[in-house]
Amino acid sequence: MKKIVVMGSGNGSNFQAIAEYIRNNGLPIEIVAMITDNPKAFIIERAKNLGIPARVLDYKAIGDKDLYNKMLLDLLNELGPDLVVLAGYMRILPPEIVKAFERRIVNIHPSLLPSFPGLHGIEQAWSYGVKVTGVTVHFVDEGVDTGPIIDQVPVRIEEGDTLETLEKKIHEAEHELYPRVIARILLGN
Ligand code: GRF
Repeated sequence: MKKIVVMGSGNGSNFQAIAEYIRNNGLPIEIVAMITDNPKAFIIERAKNLGIPARVLDYKAIGDKDLYNKMLLDLLNELGPDLVVLAGYMRILPPEIVKAFERRIVNIHPSLLPSFPGLHGIEQAWSYGVKVTGVTVHFVDEGVDTGPIIDQVPVRIEEGDTLETLEKKIHEAEHELYPRVIARILLGN
């Protein structure tokens, strides 16, 4: 059985898609915990409903970045995952965590990297007026959305699309791609 940890700060729709894909396909992958920095995130509700332990490291309450990062590293070491899956985790992982889990941390980004990295990938692609954007899964390095690309899918912006319909298409593409990439990394084909 492979072990993964999912980390998120917000809605958690990718987390849920991953958990359901693993369950529906009976894959030998266990989500040992969902870690969040945000005690108010809806992802905690999803963890409860999925029966997956939620570990909350309340960044604001901890109040110190170095202490928070140390607690996070300790927690990851305690959980011992084969893969750390970032799914809407809104903080930058410090170099000591990136090094400790080299090539064992993946992230999903809502654009075709290296275009539109950072916080607002969907809006930026929309405002720029590109006709094709998409979704990227990549290994995490010490930069922001700069690590080696593992897989991508394109999403076309069609006549009649709005930012809202584009967001919906991007999220659907994420929910398709991310679970499959994780399964491929951990279990091969
Ligand atoms: C996704 O769009 C992902 O690409 C980005 O953050 C968003 C997380 O959404 N990194 P959710 O929390 O999984 O619903």
